[in-house]
Amino acid sequence: MHAVLALETSCDESAAAVLRRHADGRIEVLASRIASQVEEHARWGGVVPEIASRRHVEALPGLVEAVVDEAGLALGQLDAIAATITPGLAGALMVASVTGRTLAALHHRPFLGIHHLEGHLASVMLGDAPPQAPYLVLLVSGGHTELILVAADGGMKRLGRSHDDAAGEAFDKVARLLGLGYPGGPAIQAVAEKGDATRFRLPKGRISLPGGGFHPYDFSFSGLKTAMLRTVETLRQSADPLPLADLAASFEQVVADVLVQRSIRCAEDHGVDQLVMVGGVAANRRLRRCMLERAQDRSIAVSIAPLAFCTDNAAMIGAAALLRLAQTTGSTSLESGVAARWPLDQAHALYAADPPF
Ligand code: KG4
Ligand code: ZN
Repeated sequence: MHAVLALETSCDESAAAVLRRHADGRIEVLASRIASQVEEHARWGGVVPEIASRRHVEALPGLVEAVVDEAGLALGQLDAIAATITPGLAGALMVASVTGRTLAALHHRPFLGIHHLEGHLASVMLGDAPPQAPYLVLLVSGGHTELILVAADGGMKRLGRSHDDAAGEAFDKVARLLGLGYPGGPAIQAVAEKGDATRFRLPKGRISLPGGGFHPYDFSFSGLKTAMLRTVETLRQSADPLPLADLAASFEQVVADVLVQRSIRCAEDHGVDQLVMVGGVAANRRLRRCMLERAQDRSIAVSIAPLAFCTDNAAMIGAAALLRLAQTTGSTSLESGVAARWPLDQAHALYAADPPF
């Protein structure tokens, strides 16, 4: 049985959690807290890195104290202390990284520097029916839109990606265009609820292949964003108020359609009968519903991360740390820094004696 403290400050949520992995492999969240800075960034229409770093410094110590208290474990009893060290805003990442390394040194515990996307992938293990590899993951967050094949041996291969905006970024930009505020995903979802999703015809953003035809699993959301802008410009020429609900619902529907269609196609082409969906956008109700319905039609099983662990949180970082602990004996050097970018398939390098950054 392993227990970890996990810290997350890669963007605009400060978070801490304590988790335990039982002998049968079940992962239990003993305590998980998030201090969101969303309201503060909303004033600026997006995340301001400098403000994010300062707020993390203020919030993290209190969160650590609270989760350790709630879990009823002393820091010295933990098997490791984990923190997200890549990818994200460098100044923001530094807060969890320095805090985690300091606590690890003070309490003589191993430190695990976690890849944020590995955390999102592990978030599905916090649900009632964790999937068993092989499966195909649709990772949809504010910074990434990727299809990742997880093989039976745990190896990962990226089979699809966005060539421009991530799906979450598209939600945020379109919400701003519609005057709905930040973060865009929840704002669009709320307005779209009563909208007519068939009213506006919007493009599905396909990527041309050099030899002709289209890439079957890659995405593009910039054309959709431009189409929304043109539609809004045309509608503004009339005196009527903007049909916000129909615009939001039509946008949400086309995003859900492309994500679901290409994920299912990719799974079928690779002979995989399990789909996993994680990341902030996986919290979207319409997308969750579409994915469940259409995958069921094709006899593909779907596991979606629990709603509470879709958007950034520390429990998913703890889950990734526990899975690492079960597999390797290596830990992350206390000399290791943070990196704004690092490929997911190179995450194992974070545990090497000679760290890459
Ligand atoms: O995973 P996440 O919290 O942070 C990143 O690692 O990027 O994802 C944040 C993104 C934002 O773009 C936000 O607008 C989007 O997830 N999001 C949603 C919903 N909740 C959050 N998008 C659509 N529907 C939602 N309900
Ligand atoms: Zn994230």
